[in-house]
Amino acid sequence: MRLGGVDLAGNLLLAPMADVTNLAFRLMCKRYGASLTFTEMISSDAVVHGNEKTFLRGMTCEEERPFGVQLFGHCPETITAAALVIEEMFDPIVIDMNLGCPSPAITNAGCGSALLRSPEIVSDIFRDLCENVNTPVTAKIRILENMDDTLDIANRLEEAGVCALTVHGRTREQGYQGFADHRYAKRIKEELSIPVIANGDVKDGESAKRILEYTGCDGLMIGRAAMGDPHVFYRVSRFLENDEVIGTCCEQRRDDLLEYIELLEKFDLMTHVNMKAHSQWFTRGLKDSRRMRMEMGSADSHVSLVECIRNMCGNNSE
Ligand SMILES: Cc1cc2nc3c(=O)[nH]c(=O)nc-3n(C[C@H](O)[C@H](O)[C@H](O)COP(=O)(O)O)c2cc1C
Repeated sequence: MRLGGVDLAGNLLLAPMADVTNLAFRLMCKRYGASLTFTEMISSDAVVHGNEKTFLRGMTCEEERPFGVQLFGHCPETITAAALVIEEMFDPIVIDMNLGCPSPAITNAGCGSALLRSPEIVSDIFRDLCENVNTPVTAKIRILENMDDTLDIANRLEEAGVCALTVHGRTREQGYQGFADHRYAKRIKEELSIPVIANGDVKDGESAKRILEYTGCDGLMIGRAAMGDPHVFYRVSRFLENDEVIGTCCEQRRDDLLEYIELLEKFDLMTHVNMKAHSQWFTRGLKDSRRMRMEMGSADSHVSLVECIRNMCGNNSE
């Protein structure tokens, strides 16, 4: 798949996820075959105000490239100003704009999925961005209640000059409930000439193949299925290549979690969220995961957490 003037090695992308897609986690996904990774969404206001913590979110390294940065915001001038800072500092292959976040903290400020209700502002934002920024721009949308309104947004984005569009097949009201409706991505793919990426409920090789074939989309974006399981990119790739079904086991997760923690240390990203929340996700679906989670939850230092992880499979490996 070609995106932002770059030939990607494949067509599986890691979704931007707040508090999840830190650099260490993105690198793990890259190592397992994600062709493009995205930072967590970054506030364009915070970038323009020079907020240092915000800049940490855009931090990358050579091994991760190519990578994308996602911004959110509301005001066209601020978004463009932030994008100019981001391209200068981090040189991503694309700058993605968030038109999907349903969180009231974001939508009450007119950002994220709130923008989908203001098609004129969407056109203004993307015209301004695409005209003034050197980096190719992409957009990530949710669907609206009806096809025509969703197609209107998609067409506006293409007209303004975005180089690709990701479609999460849920409405803002759905949040993360129910199923993603991929009829929208299919229809948008038929209508637009830029690459379209389908997003929502890609969990494994079978769902990936079904959604790719049904929608005819150029690529797939994987979100929640990767949380605590970056290996999912390897399993999905192998299935798409030759229908091969690869399992996962406790030892695999343990080793991945240890590697992830080493990367957190290397990049000085050892925050509570990056350590504890991720550790819990890495036990999801494993036999005896309740016990593992309790032990990890009560670890009172980095050293004891790592010790817990080393012992996490015990004699109960799947
Ligand atoms: C914890 C979490 C954080 C998220 N943060 C973002 C974000 O920063 N930007 C964004 O565009 N979408 C965000 N999303 C939405 C995902 O990118 C994706 O669209 C959604 O999870 C559907 O894909 P999935 O079914 O593969 O998870 C987030 C989702 C989750 C679960």
